[in-house]
Amino acid sequence: MSTVLAFDVYGTLIDTQGINEQLQELVGDQTPTFSQRWRDKQLEYAFRRSLMGAYADFSQCTRDGLEFVDRALQTQLSDNDKDALMATYGRLPAFTDAADALARLADSSKLRCVAFSNGSREAVNGLLEQAGILEYFEDIVSVEEVKRFKPDPAVYAHLHNRLEVAAQDVWLISSNPFDLIGAKHAGLHVTWIRRSAEAPFDTWGGEPDMTVSDLNELVDRIT
Ligand code: LAC
Repeated sequence: MSTVLAFDVYGTLIDTQGINEQLQELVGDQTPTFSQRWRDKQLEYAFRRSLMGAYADFSQCTRDGLEFVDRALQTQLSDNDKDALMATYGRLPAFTDAADALARLADSSKLRCVAFSNGSREAVNGLLEQAGILEYFEDIVSVEEVKRFKPDPAVYAHLHNRLEVAAQDVWLISSNPFDLIGAKHAGLHVTWIRRSAEAPFDTWGGEPDMTVSDLNELVDRIT
């Protein structure tokens, strides 16, 4: 079987809202705003760096996003606070369905599974390992290998070339519409993990080939 499932990491397998408990102690009521703006800024910096041809490790985008939001919301976090938040970012939890769904997938199908992320190989390896789900992936494909970020077409081309399969034989599994639209544009198949019924998809760029509410529903549908 040559079909490969490529799982996005941050926001799909790993819950970036896992930082909120620690943020609550530092910024109180501003936590939801801080958390959302941090994630948005992290991704914006990745997009901009790719356009500028100024690649840096994704953790730099995360740190720069944190610095910006601290400045914008005037939360005046200390360097120690920011270092502690960054350390927590390196051990964010997996979504509660991830381990179960991946184990079911491994038991009932011969599909190849890889993790595919803006994060460095080292960062993703650490996250998946501490979340107890590293064993389910035959490999980690990081954008660092091409020094571009999603949704640059080069990263999706790299993914299927590295896996030695055609673009249409890769299914990207992601909660992030920008990632799904980028992958579809590059000829991959895509499944949207729509964890919230209120989550909107972009109004352009095509529709996902499949939409499910969580990873267990994905496994139900494909096995
Ligand atoms: C990733 C981003 C999209 O893991 O969060 O690639």
